[in-house]
Amino acid sequence: MSVDVAVVPVAGLGTRLLPLTRSVPKELLPLGSKPVLQHVIDELESAGIRHIVLVTGAGESSIRQHFGIDSNLERQLLAKGKADQLTQLQSLADGIQIDYVRQSRQLGLGHAIWCARDIIGDRPFTIALGDAMFGLNNSTLCQRLQRVFINTSADAVIAFHEVPKDRVSRYGVAKVGATNIDGEGSFEVADLIEKPATADAPSQYAIAARYVCHSQIFNLLGNTKEGVGGEIQLTDALRTLILAGGKVVGVPLQQNEKRFDVGNFDSYFSAFVEVACADPIHGNALKQQLQAILDKD
Ligand code: UTP
Repeated sequence: MSVDVAVVPVAGLGTRLLPLTRSVPKELLPLGSKPVLQHVIDELESAGIRHIVLVTGAGESSIRQHFGIDSNLERQLLAKGKADQLTQLQSLADGIQIDYVRQSRQLGLGHAIWCARDIIGDRPFTIALGDAMFGLNNSTLCQRLQRVFINTSADAVIAFHEVPKDRVSRYGVAKVGATNIDGEGSFEVADLIEKPATADAPSQYAIAARYVCHSQIFNLLGNTKEGVGGEIQLTDALRTLILAGGKVVGVPLQQNEKRFDVGNFDSYFSAFVEVACADPIHGNALKQQLQAILDKD
């Protein structure tokens, strides 16, 4: 068995980033020289994913434009002797198929994933949120999730990062069961709570924007009622799976897999600066400018 298809939800309203996201979907906001969604697609490609289903909302046309072919721009670059820039425009490797599915009402992440059910069919699939990337050098997180999914015969595998206690209420949080079940640090997820109050959080392991699931999750999502925030939550469907005896495994992030996300202004600004500072061409100049700004204060 292999996992070579992924669902990437990019249909959220991005209200925490208004007015920036009024006409630009947050997944197209830049982290360094590429939109965060391009980093996510690159990560999926290097994990062997060959078919990506983008669940889109109002920002669909600009996302299609980013991943489409612009013959006019290509001709102009060639005519101006800028052939080297053409390779940077090729945002998809050869042989990658992208499909678009519309989520017409923003009923939550769980509902967005459910919208991809007909295209995914009965295949196991990766889920990668389009507004978060991991590490500065080609993360292997999706590859590891797929390996653990197959090796442990899990029904679902979820990435987790440890967060400070005062931030658990922003995430889905794991109750940890048996630890190190595969000799590589993976653990059994005994329960999941979406956005718990700090005092109720069963651990500091927060869900980290990447999953691998069997297609059975679609039935559970179809029967999931609105949860926290009035939205259909993927966490609630995974919880139902656990309570029904399903095997759900947690994979912790590695030391070098810092999470960069564009969910709110604080996380977006700091992610942009850190990713831009690591840029091999422009990073050093930016660091010097930042130092000069800090020295002035
Ligand atoms: P968020 O939980 O950050 O929600 O989505 P949001 O609606 O995008 O942002 P805010 O809370 O209004 O600021 C996590 C991921 O799930 C997608 C988002 O696009 C993002 O990649 N999502 C969320 C959907 O595709 N559809 C939804 O209905 C909700």
